[in-house]
Amino acid sequence: MVKEYGSDFSLDEIPKGVPNLCLDSPYTVYLRSGRECLKYVGLQIESEVNRILMPALCCRSMVKAFTDIGFKVDFYRLEKDLTVDWTSLLEIMEDNLAVVYINYFGRPTFTLEQLVFLKAEFRDVFIIKDATHDFFDDKVLFGVEPDYVVASLRKWFALPDGGIVKSTRYLLEQVVERDPEDFFTKQRTQAMLMKHKYLATADVSIKPLYRDVFSKCATFLSEDLAIMTMSDVSRILLEHLNVQKMSDRRRDNFMRLYQHLEHKDFINISYSSSQTCPLYFPVVLNIDRDFVQKELAEHGIYCPVIWPIPSSAVGHCQWSEYFSANMLALPCDHRYTESDMEYVAATLETIIQNMA
Ligand SMILES: Cc1ncc(COP(=O)(O)O)c(C=O)c1O
Repeated sequence: MVKEYGSDFSLDEIPKGVPNLCLDSPYTVYLRSGRECLKYVGLQIESEVNRILMPALCCRSMVKAFTDIGFKVDFYRLEKDLTVDWTSLLEIMEDNLAVVYINYFGRPTFTLEQLVFLKAEFRDVFIIKDATHDFFDDKVLFGVEPDYVVASLRKWFALPDGGIVKSTRYLLEQVVERDPEDFFTKQRTQAMLMKHKYLATADVSIKPLYRDVFSKCATFLSEDLAIMTMSDVSRILLEHLNVQKMSDRRRDNFMRLYQHLEHKDFINISYSSSQTCPLYFPVVLNIDRDFVQKELAEHGIYCPVIWPIPSSAVGHCQWSEYFSANMLALPCDHRYTESDMEYVAATLETIIQNMA
């Protein structure tokens, strides 16, 4: 058995069945990826909106989702606690635009009052929440604030593909394709099954094979312009998930990391609620972050950088650039136990102590 922390999910088998629950409706659609969900929303509002405003700390695929369909994307700044820099947003606000936001690591970027203000003061403003960071905490299905909520489901669950759009507005009929070859899904399913075999057998010859396939799939998705429906395999897998159990495990893992690391000087994002269940646990390092990332990988702990700043957003926001340069995202998902989290925290602490 090999133990790895973070990175792509593995899959032991594909359950049999027909997708019954994850069905599209006038208010919900399931697509192949998070970026396709953003693009889908862009097409829903393109006749009413001239520009998209996005936080400067975002990933390239989010920006590209909108620029691919002809939108101009501008960026608003963030404060040092990752909330919106309200003044910078108001400077660029006007009628007929869409504001995208992310609750980074589960912490609200906007207050409800701010969102209500934007909707009241400006005409035809659409609020798009990207819930990829706090999907389990996103309880508001048809609530007051966002007009659209999107999330990359494949980042949360062991699915070869998957994203969701939920809307408070009736979704306009829109062409969503079904890939006849199913290239992306088939390849990623194979890679996930291979990864499972590697973890179970420790046969190191398998690792470069599945990593190569994951990487090819990532390139494929970044270049494909289509909007595809979520595959039947992912719909069936989703139906078999015990989401409550996963959410409980994530919350416990997150809190265990927090208890271990909260008083360290490299944590500067505080959490007040034990109910937080974000995608990752963020640490902000004021030492050589890339070195720490490499050392953690040597111990089987794979932590992404959230995110390299997209080229069009460079120079807009000092705090976004600070986080992009210094932050690491520790895995805390349902694959792991609280003792795994102790290992992750202890390994991080040892690496940092050895650097002193
Ligand atoms: C906040 C956010 N939105 C959207 C995406 C895009 O999701 P996908 O890779 O499924 O297209 C990501 C991917 O990392 C993300 O982190």
